[in-house]
Amino acid sequence: MVLGATAQGQKIDGMDVWSNADYLERYNPIQPWNKKASRLARGFFITFEGGEGAGKSTQIERLARKMRAKKYDVLLTREPGGSPGAEAVRHVLLSGAAEPFGPKMEALLFAAARSDHVEQVIRPAVERGSIVLCDRFLDSSRVYQGVTGGIDPAFMDALEQVAINGMMPDMTLIFDIDPAEGLRRATLRRGTEAVADRFEKETLAVHQARREAFLAIAKAEPERCIVVDAAAEPDAVEDVVTAAVFAALAARAPARDRQATPA
Ligand code: TYD
Repeated sequence: MVLGATAQGQKIDGMDVWSNADYLERYNPIQPWNKKASRLARGFFITFEGGEGAGKSTQIERLARKMRAKKYDVLLTREPGGSPGAEAVRHVLLSGAAEPFGPKMEALLFAAARSDHVEQVIRPAVERGSIVLCDRFLDSSRVYQGVTGGIDPAFMDALEQVAINGMMPDMTLIFDIDPAEGLRRATLRRGTEAVADRFEKETLAVHQARREAFLAIAKAEPERCIVVDAAAEPDAVEDVVTAAVFAALAARAPARDRQATPA
């Protein structure tokens, strides 16, 4: 194991590993929930999904900034990780330490991490009226472990229900990009010296199958999922994301506020 400090956290075996505190502090500047930020009667839970190098992380940060500028109370988080328990499992998964034990073991670990993240971070934030933006969530498990990991769908369904315990995203943005381009971008972002993680290092055919699996989810659940063309310029992608999210909030938040107001 090779450890070294980086601006973002620490390096273990050439991979950036952030502690939960590093991540939450970097992306969630002090933002007292009861002061200026405006809260919804019930929050809104948005997940960002897609293959490698699709630009999710850039876009999620831009959206958080934009929403905070409009005084929304935003919590930015990511998977695997996002809570101390889940972050403890993150490195085991991304380093490939769990890989020799098979995709089922990995799926169980992702689910354990997700359950902790949901109960410790996501549900309390949504219940206090925050907008939660999460970089990857259940669709990544469906695709990476379920489809390309070849795990029985019934097993994956059962695991998903236990992990999310009803905390289904209100909205999911699926960032779609040709995997060859996505991997090129991911390599550029990481730098050629750092190593690809356990899931990025797989063959182009696997990445292609993941792309198709994400698109199939979007097709099967159009009320939740929006496909974003991630090949476009970042500013153009940002415009699409902003328009979609604000439209969804405008359509859904007032109804919830009315529901929460006693008659
Ligand atoms: P990460 O470095 O966090 O980021 P990125 O989203 O930029 O790719 O890598 C997370 C990796 O873990 C990614 O390859 C997808 C994979 N993953 C799964 O296989 N299953 C899951 O349930 C989740 C959340 C992630």
